[in-house]
This record gives sequence, C-alpha cells and structure tokens, in this order.
Amino acid sequence: MVLSSPPLRRRGPGDGPGGEARLPVLEFEAIVQDFRTPQGEGVRRVLDGISFAVQPGQFTAVVGPSGCGKSTLLHMAAGLLAPSAGAVRHGGVPVASINRAVGFVPQQAQLLPWKTLRENVELPLLLRRVPAAERAQRLGEMLAAVGLAGFEDHYPHQLSGGMQKRASIARTLIYRPDVVLMDEPFGALDAQTRMVMQNDLQTLASRQQTTILFVTHDLTEAILLADNVVLLSRQPTRLKADIAIPLERPRNVFQPFHTKGFAELYDRVWSIFQAEIAPPEAGDAA
Ligand SMILES: Nc1ncnc2c1ncn2[C@@H]1O[C@H](COP(=O)(O)OP(=O)(O)O)[C@@H](O)[C@H]1O
Ligand SMILES: [Mg+2]
Repeated sequence: MVLSSPPLRRRGPGDGPGGEARLPVLEFEAIVQDFRTPQGEGVRRVLDGISFAVQPGQFTAVVGPSGCGKSTLLHMAAGLLAPSAGAVRHGGVPVASINRAVGFVPQQAQLLPWKTLRENVELPLLLRRVPAAERAQRLGEMLAAVGLAGFEDHYPHQLSGGMQKRASIARTLIYRPDVVLMDEPFGALDAQTRMVMQNDLQTLASRQQTTILFVTHDLTEAILLADNVVLLSRQPTRLKADIAIPLERPRNVFQPFHTKGFAELYDRVWSIFQAEIAPPEAGDAA
C-alpha cells in the first residue's frame, strides 16, 4: 500500500495573517451525477449541480432525504466515483483516484471479526508501515480518547454496538486523515447510545480540531453537531441551503431544546426542509 500524506494546501491571497492557508479541505463544484436506470435503458440525473466547501477544522453536516445522493457525494470525495460533470477538489487538487488522505466511517462498523480490538484499530498504521513503538503509543492515545482503554484484547462480538462504533471511529482517526467522511454513522444505534456517541464525537472533534463531513438524514443530529448544515433536495438533487449553526459549544445533545438558539435554528432548517420530505398533497399525482 502506498503511504500518502495529505495534499499540501497552497498559500494564496486569502491566507490568514500567520500565513495559514484558508483553502477549503474539500470543494464540491457544480457536481452532476447521472446513473443508469436499473433496467439500463436510460439515465437518471441524481445530483444536479451541487456546490459547497468544507473548511479546515469545520464540522459540516449534509442532510437530505433518503436516496438524494448523500453517500454518492462521500464516495466522490473518497475517489471511489468520478462525477458525471463538475469537480471535487481536496486541498485544491482534483480527486482523480482513490483518496487515501480521507478517512471513511461507514454506517456499519465493519470490524474484522477474527481480529482483536487492538489489531483492528492498529491496522491502518500497519498498512502505512508506522513503526511498532509509535503504533503502540498512538493506539493507547486513541483508545483512551474514544473510551475503549482496557478492551484491547476483546473481539468485536464481545463489544456492544456503541463500542464497535467507537472502534470504527478510532480506526479511522488513528491515521490522522485530513478529513473524516462519516456516512450516517449512528443510524443503526439505539436512541440512548446514539446521544452518547454524538456527545463523544462533539468532544473528540473539537479537542482534535478534526475536519468532518458528516452525512445524516436527522435534522436534530445535524444541527447539534455541525458548524454548518448543507440541505439537499429530493432527486434530481439540488442544494437548498447552506446554513451556519452558530450555537455555543459544548452543546447539550441530551436535551437539545435546552440549548439556547436551537429551537429557532431547527424551525428555520425545518421550514426549508419540510417540502422535501412531506408526502405529496392529494391531487399531486393527477
Ligand atoms: N452505482 C450506482 N448505480 C446506479 N444508481 C446508483 C448507484 N449508486 C447510487 N445510485 C442511486 O443514486 C441515488 C442516490 O444514492 P445514495 O447516494 O446512496 O443516496 P443517499 O445516501 O442520499 O440515501 C439512489 O437513487 C441510488 O439508487
Ligand atoms: Mg446513503
């Protein structure tokens, strides 16, 4: 496996006073995606000109109805799929092949069942030929950060769903990807575990200044976790709004309505989003 370092960000006129680059980590520019219909006789436009950017250290949530193309956008950022038109850039460089500088946290934890927690989480470092001493140190730090210290020798089936999810996140963060792509990562968890995981992710992301592109269909989750929420429409999918979420941190994910300003933001997002998920009015089909 090729060891790849994150692309360097170019310096430019928009850079900060200390010379720090302000180039977005990821840019989606006028993305169009056409897929063949299942019967193969035609093409269907799924994404219809989507543009937004993910800034360094920011938590961006993408919200849209089921099937609107959220996973497809993440696949493009990971270099698994080239858009039919438009461009995806990472650090200013077009993504042209598998992008190993991003991390991907899938909906299901996908741990290797025959490997221990230690072996699962350490795997990306082994593949990148990180020396043993550094591997051990990073593993210790990472497991502590996600609350899994002491479970090193457990196999996945000996861990709860929430712990498996923590392991999956640890396995991605341990190689310090430039940006973490998360595809409805908490969708399969029970409601309580989900809140705990949201809270822990919020802490982890702000402590480590991680850049995250987080896909969800849950408005509350998006507003509670994100710095900005990208709202997508139904197919053919367009960007409806990119809304800044200026709520103070840490946010109370357990009692969202106790978070000052949450209700107003929720109403605002909902007022834009409801048309995309509301059932068709009687007579629409006529
Ligand atoms: N490889 C593919 N070939 C054909 N159609 C696809 C393919 N991948 C996704 N689609 C279709 O594109 C649409 C968007 O899919 P997806 O990105 O998975 O949506 P979401 O993650 O928002 O639920 C869906 O209608 C899906 O059936
Ligand atoms: Mg999806």
